[in-house]
Amino acid sequence: MNYHILTLFPEMVSDGLNTSIIGRAAAKGLLSIETVNIRDYTKEKHGHVDDAPYGGGAGMVMQAAPVCDAYEALCGRLGKRPRVLYMTPQGKVFNQKIAQELAQEEDLVFLCGHYEGIDERALERIVTDYLSIGDYVLTGGELPAMVMIDCISRLVPGVLNNDASAEIESFHDNLLEYPQYTRPEVYEGMQVPEVLLSGHHKNIETWRRQQSIRRTLERRPDLLAEANLTDKERKYLEELRRELAEKRDPIDPSDEDGQDPV
Ligand code: ADE
Repeated sequence: MNYHILTLFPEMVSDGLNTSIIGRAAAKGLLSIETVNIRDYTKEKHGHVDDAPYGGGAGMVMQAAPVCDAYEALCGRLGKRPRVLYMTPQGKVFNQKIAQELAQEEDLVFLCGHYEGIDERALERIVTDYLSIGDYVLTGGELPAMVMIDCISRLVPGVLNNDASAEIESFHDNLLEYPQYTRPEVYEGMQVPEVLLSGHHKNIETWRRQQSIRRTLERRPDLLAEANLTDKERKYLEELRRELAEKRDPIDPSDEDGQDPV
C-alpha cells in the first residue's frame, strides 16, 4: 500500500505516522507514506496557496492550481491516477467496511484541506471520494487522514503480527469485540471468567460470541441489524432482549429503583 498525502503541513503527518505499528510497517516496506507539500506547487511570488473567497465571507480558501498541480505531478511520477480521498465533514462517514474496501488499492491519495476549504473546481477535477471521520469540524484534514491511514494499514497483510486479530475484533461481522483478560487470575477480588481458564476451545468460542452479542446489544444496538448471526445466536439475542426489557420494565413495581439497569 502506498499512501500519498497532499498537505500544507507535511511534518504533522509524517511525524504522526512514523512511530509504533505503522512506522514499523513502513520501515519493513509493507507500506510507504509520502507527503507532498502543496505549497511547493504555488506559482505565486510569495508562496501563497490561499485567497479570500469570492462573494465574501470569513477565512481563506485554498486555491485550485497548487492542489491540481501537486496531484498531476504525482500522477506523472507514478504513471497512474490513483483515487483521491478528500477529508471533509461533508463526506461519507468512514467506517470499517470502507477501510476494507480501500485496503485493496495499491495507491491512495489523501487530500487535506485547511482554512475554509479548497476551491470547488480543484475538488471537481481530482477528487473521487469525499470522506469524513464524524459529525464534528476539525481545523484541517491531516488528523482525519492519519486516522484513516492507521485503520487501513492494520488491514494490510503483515502489518499486524497476528493477522487473525484484524479479523476477530470490533466491527467484524458488525459485532463489538468480547472482553479480554490477562494475568493475574484475580485482580482486587475480581475473577477472570471461569470458562477462559478451562482450555475448552469450543466453549470459549461460544462464550466470546455471546459476549460480543450482549455487548453490541447494550452499547451499539444499531449494529445488530447487519450482524451475521446463526439461528442459535438469534435465539440467544432474543433471550437477551427479553432479559433487558424485563429489567427496564419490571413486572413487580417494588423492583423499580428508578435506575437504568444497562
Ligand atoms: N475536516 C474537518 N473536519 C473533518 C471531519 N470531521 N472529517 C474529515 N475531514 C475533516
